[in-house]
This record gives sequence, structure tokens and C-alpha cells, in this order.
Amino acid sequence: MAVETQAIEALLKENRSFPPPEDFAQQANLNDPEIYTRAAEDPEAFWADVARGLDWFRPWEQVLHWEVPFAKWFVGGKLNACYNCVDRHVRTARRNKAAIIWEGENGESRVLTYWDLYREVNRFASVLREHFGIRKGDRVCIYMPMVPELPIAMLACARIGAVHTVVFGGFSAESLKERINDCQCRLVITADGGYRRGTVIPLKRSVDEALQECPSVEGVVVVRRLGLGLTDATFTHMQEVRDHWWHRVIEDVSPRSDCEEMDSEDLLFILYTSGSTGKPKGIVHTTGGYLTGVYATTKWVFDLKEEDVFWCTADCGWVTGHSYLVYGPLANGATIVMYEGAPDFPDRDRFWAICEKYGVTVFYTAPTAIRAFMKWGTEHVEKHDLSTLRLIGSVGEPINPEAWMWYHQNIGGGRCPVVDTWWQTETGHILISPLPGITTTRPGSATFPLPGIEADVVDEAGQSVPLGGGGYLVLKRPWPGMLRGLYGDPERYREVYWSRYGTMYFAGDGAKRDEDGYFWLLGRVDDVMNVAGHRISTMEVESALVDHPAVAEAAVIGKHHELKGQAIAAFVTVKDGFKAGTELQDELKEHVVKKIGAISRPDDIIFTSELPKTRSGKIMRRLLRDIAEGRALGDTTTLADPNVVAMLRERYEEEGG
Ligand code: PRX
Repeated sequence: MAVETQAIEALLKENRSFPPPEDFAQQANLNDPEIYTRAAEDPEAFWADVARGLDWFRPWEQVLHWEVPFAKWFVGGKLNACYNCVDRHVRTARRNKAAIIWEGENGESRVLTYWDLYREVNRFASVLREHFGIRKGDRVCIYMPMVPELPIAMLACARIGAVHTVVFGGFSAESLKERINDCQCRLVITADGGYRRGTVIPLKRSVDEALQECPSVEGVVVVRRLGLGLTDATFTHMQEVRDHWWHRVIEDVSPRSDCEEMDSEDLLFILYTSGSTGKPKGIVHTTGGYLTGVYATTKWVFDLKEEDVFWCTADCGWVTGHSYLVYGPLANGATIVMYEGAPDFPDRDRFWAICEKYGVTVFYTAPTAIRAFMKWGTEHVEKHDLSTLRLIGSVGEPINPEAWMWYHQNIGGGRCPVVDTWWQTETGHILISPLPGITTTRPGSATFPLPGIEADVVDEAGQSVPLGGGGYLVLKRPWPGMLRGLYGDPERYREVYWSRYGTMYFAGDGAKRDEDGYFWLLGRVDDVMNVAGHRISTMEVESALVDHPAVAEAAVIGKHHELKGQAIAAFVTVKDGFKAGTELQDELKEHVVKKIGAISRPDDIIFTSELPKTRSGKIMRRLLRDIAEGRALGDTTTLADPNVVAMLRERYEEEGG
């Protein structure tokens, strides 16, 4: 069912909204709109009810302890996340059900039943305990390609109470080092490499480089993904005593390893994300509230049922992978699909081939991918039978209505509800989203806060903006999966999220509500960019640039990009004695990749003799954005030297844009 752009525009003009299909609503996990009122009347009782869907070793004594801005959920309760995701299922008929269906980029396939997963996780938990002496509370870094050993490692950490910090495999050695040192990891779990678009990503090499300056690390476990017969470029050097092959260490350990009894507020994981400073923040999530939040939202938002095959295309290195590839679906005993590689390898129909092959029923991806599929054309979709799909979702950035409609028509066949889900690394789980059996959706809107969640749009002063208006998105009540802080930095936690409005959580996103109360997310209002659904700080890229000997000063902005949402543009002044030219442009781009990772490669580097600044010396990014996007300049009255902008614009037209 190909729908061309013009047809989409016509549909959008009609202001279409999409009520839940009747048969869908009848069978949905949630189909009673009263749930919103019930939850709002007594949110604590509501969440307590939800938490009873998990297995607790000991019940909690208090649902919520809230001392702004520090929340404790299910106080005194004891549980284990791995037990809830694995052990409790092997005692039921799910024992033989597929837990993970994995597909490698080269076409290999592996299926792990819940029993298989149980065995593997137990063994690896034994490796952690017996071989490396890892104990409850120790930090373990995971830097891996998308292979089953990645969720196995996460669950094994959770089993023994070790705190995992997963670092996306696309990050550089330098970024890896920074994260390992920030939380003082004792162990790194990695692989010799992974496959991406047919090439090898040599992860172990980055680990070796990083570990030259990571004194806390005592050991490394390496999954053999690439196999034997490698070239010099991919050969894996194993350092004696420190490095161990996964397949070897797993051989001589006990086949069973007990679940540690964890307090509801014991740490489950730390995940680093970019903020508005140069240094990534270690977002801390604990056990009981987080697991309750992901368990419930997976069930509600994706309407997950026993027979579903759920494919979330995110990498485990991001929060979406943590919550909706690992903890949420597995806590529900669901079958998940996990894919190692790129969506266009070997061809642009790879995702649809995978959907067809495994009969995927619920599919969850990012707008940047949807826009790429749109551009590639419907012929790749039409080659495959997507009739098993019954629900499709979107996450990571605002989805433009055109992309929403294309997704709905061409992937969802016009019959699948679309859930546009808003949340963040900090929120742990989805907070604003349609409930597919209840909500009438509007293309481009994430619709309403979920039951038990109180969101609002406020002005600078923190006053609620009447319907129809825009402002800042805030959350007015604590929720179970909220971050418990920034690792090792309670002051920064307070400062970033709570200093603005006191008792309301400041999300850093702009939003508006229409006359009917629908939420429309408008993107970040701070110095954070969203490039292809990845959160990147302008300051981080600026720091990487000024680290280069040729750079005197740098200002970075996110400019609109048709596919990626935003692309990185950097305005750079060069030190005397260095030649600004294409060679240096390429060198600087590479330098940023080396410092941060390929996701942060700037699209444009524009050289300038000066940056536009206010009289007090603040760089006027707004003007840079206007220049990069070719717009008429906004207010320039505060500019110290108006000539700088005219000169820059000329430069930009010549070199950059
Ligand atoms: O700006 C919002 C955008 O992504 C940010 C959070 O990024 P991260 O912590 O990396 O988590 C991404 C996956 C949850 C938010 O502050 N964002 C996320 N989902 C949406 C979104 N913007 C608009 N609509 C969404 N559905």
C-alpha cells in the first residue's frame, strides 16, 4: 500500500485522527479510559497495584518516600531484576518459549528459550562471582556489539547485584575510558568486534586503548564474535592475566548462581548520557521502581501479549535498549527479536525481511530510521509480508506528521495503531504515549501522559500554560522509574533538573498542548542536540574541537537535517600558524570522532576569524543556527560586533552549507 508524499499531505490537511481499531480495543490489555482517573485519584495505590505484577522476595513497607528531589519507591521491598526477567518464567510453560531471537548481520540466527537464557545467565553470573570476585555494588562495564551475550551479561550483573554500565559500541576509546573511570568499573565485558554494514568494528582494540588509563579495571572478558582467520587489522591481542575469552571462562564454573536479594533502592545500572556541559552524566537507576515502570509500560503501551514477537530496534547501549529490549519485555516473559547490524545491509529491505522471517507483531523504532525508509521508497517494504504486525511505535525525537503517516500507511498497513512514545534516559520508561486500546492518535503528537504520570507545560515562571500554548515540559509528581541521581554528584542532579522549578522535574524539552490537551513535543530547549535520535551535547563537541592544536575557539549547533532531525555544524576559529582549509576540516571531523565516537562527526566545519558574541562575551548560538539554516537573522541588537555575522554568513555560504 504505497502512499506518496502528496497523498500524505492531503491526508494531513484533513487533520486526521485515528481512534483505536475496534477489534484492537476489545482485546487490548488496557481499554478502560477510567484508568486515568483511577490512577490520578491515588497514584501511590495505583503504582503499588502495578508493582504487584512483579515477584518480590519481601514486600515493601512504604510505596513512596519523597523528599524533593530524592524519591524512594517501594521502600523496604526486596527483589531481583534478573529473577523477574528469567527465573520466574522457567517455572511456568514459558520455560520452552523463545526469549531472544537473534539475527546477526551476516544472516546467522540464534534462538534462546527462557531455559537457555536461564542457563547462560547463571553460568555467567558464576563467572563474575567465582572467577573475578565481583560482588554486589561493584561496577561492571559492558562494551559490546548486539549479540545475545550482551543481555546475558546485563542480566548476570543484575543477578549478583553488580551495577552495569553499558557503553554503546559506537563510542570511542576515549569516551569509554571516561565512563569507566567515572564509576570505577572493576571489570569490562566486550567482544573481539562486531559487524556493521559489512565491516568489522574492532571493539577490543578500543578497550585496550582505553584501559591504558583505567586503573580500577582488573579483568576483561571477551566474546569471540569474529571467529578465527582474522587479518592483522582485526586480530585480537589477549593480555595475559587480565583478558579472558568468554567461551573459556564459562567452562569451569558452577552451573547455578543464586539471585542476590536486592533492596528496591539498590542500584541496577548507571547509563551515561549527554547534558549541557562537556562531561556526560551518569544516570542512576535503581531496582524496584525502574523494573515496575518498564514492566508496566511495556505491557500497556505495546499491548504485549503472550504470543507477541516484539522487536525494538535500539541498541542495548541506549536506554531504549535497556528498557524495551531487555528489562521490560523479559519481565513480561515476552519473545524479543534482537538484530546486530544496519537496516540497509545487505539491502534496504533488511528490517522488513527480519519482520517477515520471525513474524514480528510489535515493532518499535526511531523517526530517523522511518525517514530513511521513506526516502528509500516503498518497493523495499512491498517485497515482504508484514501482515503479522499489529502495533508500531516510535521513540527518540519528535516524529514529523509526514513520517508518522508514512509509517502508519506503509509499515502498519493502515491497520496498526502507532504509539509515539516520549521519555528520556532519566525517566527510565515511557511517560507520554498513547494507550493503543484507548487513545485516539494524531500524527506527530505523543498524545497524553500515561496513567499515574502528571506532566504539564509551563512558562519561565513555572505557571501552567493554558491549552493551546507552548512552554517547557515538566513532571509534577515522582514516578517509579525516575533517575535517582547522577552518579557521585547529587548537587549536579539538583542543579540540572530541579533548580529551575523547585518541586517540578525540568525535562529540558519544549512542548505545546493543543486545545484538546494533546502534547506535542518540540525538541530540546538546552544545549543538547538530537542527531539521528542520539543525544549529543554541543559542549562535548566543542571541547573535542578545542582539544585539537589548531583550534582557538569553537561553537557548535544542531541544524535542521531532513533525515537525522539535526546535524552538527561547528564554527571554528583557528590559531595563528594553522591553515584553514578542507584538509583541516577533515582532520577536525576525524578528531571529534576519535574523541567521542562516529555519532558525533560534524557535518559542517566553518572557519571564521571571530564568533558572534554578546557584549558580555556569550556566544550567540541562535544566530549561528540562523546562519546554518539559511534563515533571516533574529534579533542582533545585543551583538558586540555586527560585522562578524555578515562575514560568517558569507563564509558559510562559500564553505559549509
Ligand atoms: O528531546 C527528547 C527526545 O529525546 C530526549 C531524550 O533522549 P535520550 O535520553 O537519549 O532518550 C531517548 C529515548 C527515550 C528527550 O528529552 N525524545 C525522546 N522521545 C521523544 C523525544 N522527542 C519527541 N518525541 C518523542 N517521542
